[in-house]
Amino acid sequence: MDTMDKIVSLCKRRGFVYPGSQIYGGLANTWDFGPLGAALKQNIKSLWWREFVQKEENVYGLSGGIILSPKVWEASGHLEHFTDMLVECKSCHQRFRADQEPFKDTVMMEVSCLSCGTKGQFSEPRTFSGLFKTYIGATEDTASVTHLRPETAQAIFINFKNVVDSFHPKIPFGIAQIGRVFRNEITAGNFIFRDIEFEQMELEYFIKPEGWESHFDYWLRKMWRWVKLIGLPDDKVSEREHEASERSHYSKKTIDIEYDFPFGKKELYGLAYRTDYDLRNHSQRSGVDLSYIDEDGAKFYPHVIEPSLGVERTMLAILCAAYLEDKDRVILKLKPTLSPIKVAVFPLVSNKQDLVNKAHDVFLKLKLGLETVWDDRGNIGKRYYAQDEIGTPWCVTVDYQTLEDGTVTVRDRDTTRQERVNVSKLEEYFVTRTKAN
Ligand code: GAP
Repeated sequence: MDTMDKIVSLCKRRGFVYPGSQIYGGLANTWDFGPLGAALKQNIKSLWWREFVQKEENVYGLSGGIILSPKVWEASGHLEHFTDMLVECKSCHQRFRADQEPFKDTVMMEVSCLSCGTKGQFSEPRTFSGLFKTYIGATEDTASVTHLRPETAQAIFINFKNVVDSFHPKIPFGIAQIGRVFRNEITAGNFIFRDIEFEQMELEYFIKPEGWESHFDYWLRKMWRWVKLIGLPDDKVSEREHEASERSHYSKKTIDIEYDFPFGKKELYGLAYRTDYDLRNHSQRSGVDLSYIDEDGAKFYPHVIEPSLGVERTMLAILCAAYLEDKDRVILKLKPTLSPIKVAVFPLVSNKQDLVNKAHDVFLKLKLGLETVWDDRGNIGKRYYAQDEIGTPWCVTVDYQTLEDGTVTVRDRDTTRQERVNVSKLEEYFVTRTKAN
């Protein structure tokens, strides 16, 4: 098994990620997140919110809708530009991106279908919309057609004036949101790397047009700090600037942060200079003036720097970076802040009632402040390994000595070292170590 297969298998077995709609034979490129995956995603989002919203001086949060007026997608350019060029195999009807290997820059006659192997039997490239169509109301007529959002950013642009009117922020300032988006991806795949439904963590940072470069640089450095914070190793992360032909329709400059996944170096995040493209277009189309008047009375459409981060891609990079085989055990070396479970509590033996009762008290107490689980199956060694595999940084064992002096053994995931800590000091012990890591 290669590393990716091992990670996929661990994720399924231990309850991080399940294939979507599995009991009905599955639904391609959809995934459900099990208890541990849900917790890991939540930890990623909370950390991002803390770093990109709470810790910033002038960033406001937002939670906009998934379904917006169809006019939004006209004005944003998505109806026109959010498309891929596809070719279809005339034999098996599988569709492929025309701008990607092996179709890019080649004579189609020479290419064999990646699905059925038939050679040179492809349709002419055609555009295909990446938007998910849906209908509002009871009738499926054209008046009720709209699309699920393919990016969270647009809800921010259309609420720009609302936030300015409510909070009177001084430029530069940002509006951020985390939310689910939908894309009709044709070449989805590589586990949770490219999904048709995923979550984005986005920030639109509104600036004066002059000096946009320094703001771009600020957010690029912030993104680099973020990748360090979540534990991605330096030698796996790199930056790549988009060629003009690759850039999205709204962008004047884009830099991708790439991660070296087991299946190759791929885009992890994007940072784009969206200029005033969105606010200007929404103003013109809606007739509502979305310009800004600064302290000198100058009126202009703010320009925008946008760091955009996918939650699932973050999760995959974290899992790939954390996965480690060490002699006879598998460890997920997750940062404690991100670990779905912070502490596992065990009674040394499960047939000694006063010991089990004491351990259960410790478990219930810790659970009030930290993600804590209970395990009394098998022997202690097996319990340790089971926790290592899901990234739990600490295991607490309640033993005979606990009944005498109120101390327990705390075992560290990475070093496997053990030390005795008084039950009354446990929570403080873990909170301090979580912050320090
Ligand atoms: N608002 C800008 C925007 O949406 P993007 O480069 O299309 O830009 C931003 O997407 C980020 O969203 C990507 O860098 C990636 O982290 C994530 N992402 C994009 N498409 C994805 C997909 N199909 N599945 C999972 N994550 C995806």
